[in-house]
Amino acid sequence: MKVIKTVSTMKALAREWRREGKRVGLVPTMGYLHEGHLSLVRESRGRADVSVVSIFVNPTQFGPNEDFKKYPRDLGKDSAYLREAGIDGLFYPEASEIYPPGYRTYVDIEGLQDRLCGRSRPGHFRGVATVVLKLFDIVGPDFAFFGAKDAQQVLIIKRMAADLNLDVEVVTCPIVREPDGLALSSRNAYLSPGERKAARVLSTSLRWAEKAVGAGERDAERLVAGIRSILEAEPLARIDYAEAVDPETLEPVAEIHGEVLVALAVFFGATRLIDNLRLNV
Ligand code: PAF
Repeated sequence: MKVIKTVSTMKALAREWRREGKRVGLVPTMGYLHEGHLSLVRESRGRADVSVVSIFVNPTQFGPNEDFKKYPRDLGKDSAYLREAGIDGLFYPEASEIYPPGYRTYVDIEGLQDRLCGRSRPGHFRGVATVVLKLFDIVGPDFAFFGAKDAQQVLIIKRMAADLNLDVEVVTCPIVREPDGLALSSRNAYLSPGERKAARVLSTSLRWAEKAVGAGERDAERLVAGIRSILEAEPLARIDYAEAVDPETLEPVAEIHGEVLVALAVFFGATRLIDNLRLNV
């Protein structure tokens, strides 16, 4: 596995691969890898000839009072996982490589970036879209892999790729969960034992919603109210949002019909976790 720290080296290597006719897969991450990331890596290795994982804790997607400084980092462990997984390149740039002095260019995905997570994290998706576009330019992947847990992120990246005619297939991979249902996230590491136990309520509420829809519930307001009451019964949970939305526009729906995304963001202490359920009725 090659460890690449500069944009110019990464671009040169990617050019060489393309000259050799190899199809490149990219898994963008912020590190502190878990089984969810490794499932993306496996998908990339299955589809592409060479696979690159980027590890970059992207400062522009964190708000001023968010956890940029304390975001968990463990390059030693991450590299060992990636070597073991058979990754060809680990792109691990310094912030100054991605945002050199005088940097001023950002990507806005109008209409989508201010809904759901964007409401409580203003500027977050602007930072995500900007860094992902830069990574696409640097690595020039044929495929890029993202987890379905960040449904809004995947939607925004797909929208950007379509709007800017990018030659990359954005592949969504299923949510990976702990045996008790909690979706894997690097931020789970922040949870105290009590909060970790309480966080099961996210998937419990979504499983309830799935069953309710299976039993014929079609009223979105009632469905969301049911989810909220399950979340509110957990004393350590504080709801940021719980919504049933159109998965393409993220606008709230009135009726559970066709494709619907049920999306949640809930605080456990200072840790904000997200989860979602994709319904097709
Ligand atoms: O999902 C993440 O880890 C990040 O938002 C991403 C896509 C790597 C961009 O920094």
